[in-house]
Amino acid sequence: MFHSKILGTGFYVPPRVVTNFDMEKLMDTSNEWILERTGIEERRFVDEGVGVADLALEAAKQALKKAGIEPRDLDFIILATLSPDYTFPGSAVLLQDKLGANTIGALDVRNQCSGFIYSLSIADQYIKTGHYQRILVVGAETHSTGIDLTTRGRDVAVLFGDGAGAVVVGSTEEEGKRILSTHLHSEGKYAKELWIEAPGSIYHPRLTHEMIDQGRHFPKMKGRVVFRHAAVRFPEAINEALEANNYQISDIDLLILHQANLRINEFVARSLEIPEEKVYNNIQRYGNTTAASIPIALDEAVEEGKVKEGSLVLLASFGSGFTWASALIRW
Ligand code: UT7
Repeated sequence: MFHSKILGTGFYVPPRVVTNFDMEKLMDTSNEWILERTGIEERRFVDEGVGVADLALEAAKQALKKAGIEPRDLDFIILATLSPDYTFPGSAVLLQDKLGANTIGALDVRNQCSGFIYSLSIADQYIKTGHYQRILVVGAETHSTGIDLTTRGRDVAVLFGDGAGAVVVGSTEEEGKRILSTHLHSEGKYAKELWIEAPGSIYHPRLTHEMIDQGRHFPKMKGRVVFRHAAVRFPEAINEALEANNYQISDIDLLILHQANLRINEFVARSLEIPEEKVYNNIQRYGNTTAASIPIALDEAVEEGKVKEGSLVLLASFGSGFTWASALIRW
């Protein structure tokens, strides 16, 4: 019987720090509004010419180094992103090339905020069947090139940041320390509550000057609707993971939720009576990095000693789709 184990974690954010005060210069917003509603203080933006595969590469290098694995030892690459470098091909093949990995399979996953956990789940299934032994799983986003950095887009623009996080998942026969479970969900009737409409293959042509004038190529979100659903789905996902493994809330050593809003995460922790010190948040520094947010937080938590051998770590996400997911890991 094969099980999946996380062999190494890594992350990378571009060096350019963009504070809430910088955002004030671009649009009618304020540090107070952003901080009070979201907890975000700053985020990172790429410089021109840097794409998702570049961010993914740096995060992947870290994870591979910590796992003690060379790119040529990998069997498969999974890259979760909603902001691929190009419409096609996906960014996973670009990462395969940049890494200098063998001509192994490279898969793009398009599940937004849940993209990393979906990808981890795919990796887990491949490893459990014995098909692959070493899989690189990356979440990476370049939001800054695709958001409306004017007052028109302020409700979304202040939230997002660029970055990448990665893990190397390996095969183990050890029972104890492994990915214990993953659970994935979706509810597509809410697809348009948080989305980018254009360019879209439903339109012919896919993108028009008129669409651009109307800003339909920028992300749109009904923030309150998303918030309401997140507040319900996060606790559901957490309880589902614990019940499936016969654990209780008090067994969790560290909870890492997708970093969309500090207030959502505080609400979830309070409602489940999970003490603050058992919840890892870094949205203050990076904003919402979507598919990258959980692996970035995971690597930071590992480096800070908050995830140690034997720790029970629960990852949970909610976002566009709607999609939500969990992964329970005995470290
Ligand atoms: O990663 C995917 C998952 N995403 C989420 O989970 C996000 C969930 N939603 C949220 O986190 C919150 O809904 C937001 C932080 C996005 C927004 O907070 P809110 O308390 O729901 O604000 P709102 O959208 O209802 O807007 C309140 C007011 C509005 O003004 P009026 O109509 O009350 O006069 C907005 O126009 O705040 C205004 N506003 C802003 N003001 C200053 C919206 N954006 C901004 C801004 N700066 N950036």
